[in-house]
Amino acid sequence: MNADVLIPHAPTADIRIQELGPDRFDVLDAVLDGLSPTSRYRRFHTPAPRPTPEVRAMLAAVDGRSHIAVAAFTGSGRPVGIARLIAVVGGRSELAVEVVDEWQGRGIGSRLVRAVIERGRAAGHRVVHADALAENVAAQALFLSVFPAAIAISQGHEVGFAAELAAPGDAALVAA
Ligand SMILES: CC(C)(COP(=O)(O)OP(=O)(O)OC[C@H]1O[C@@H](n2cnc3c(N)ncnc32)[C@H](O)[C@@H]1OP(=O)(O)O)[C@@H](O)C(=O)NCCC(=O)NCCS
Repeated sequence: MNADVLIPHAPTADIRIQELGPDRFDVLDAVLDGLSPTSRYRRFHTPAPRPTPEVRAMLAAVDGRSHIAVAAFTGSGRPVGIARLIAVVGGRSELAVEVVDEWQGRGIGSRLVRAVIERGRAAGHRVVHADALAENVAAQALFLSVFPAAIAISQGHEVGFAAELAAPGDAALVAA
């Protein structure tokens, strides 16, 4: 789908959000396979049809602390989205999320991001950063929805968001 104009869909009551363990290549590949070329470009900021073996291995190297990932599953067990938080140098953590095109626009991205953020907060992640392409209105809407105090900082063809997770309540902007 990848609608640039939001079209409301049916509710997602039967969607289950679950934390991923390491080496869940099955879940990773299923979600990547469900992304259109446009969605893959918006997620990885490259026209490459598939992540390199190195990137794929990195995406599966979840440890539940410095690299936390959660996935969304349909009632029949199909993986339809992943959000992840990865601690990087400088004390911040990179947030990324993708939802298969067929299931976009139903609140799954929001649920995934909120779930991974809560786990990250508990694991000690304190500053979250996320990038969205300037054209990617859905991702920007999602990040501003989850981090309502955020200020979007344009950096060329990307928009950067940053939020502090120090307090257990709503996230607050610190820098971008
Ligand atoms: C960005 C993405 C994860 C959003 O997931 P989603 O499940 O479709 O989003 P949701 O249905 O949870 O919507 C989240 C918010 O964005 C808004 N939104 C979603 N799609 C939108 C669109 N096309 N235009 C405007 N707003 C949109 C929703 O209204 C919602 O806002 P609200 O919480 O204030 O109601 C999904 O579009 C995607 O996977 N895109 C490709 C990968 C990508 O761009 N990743 C982000 C960069 S890491």
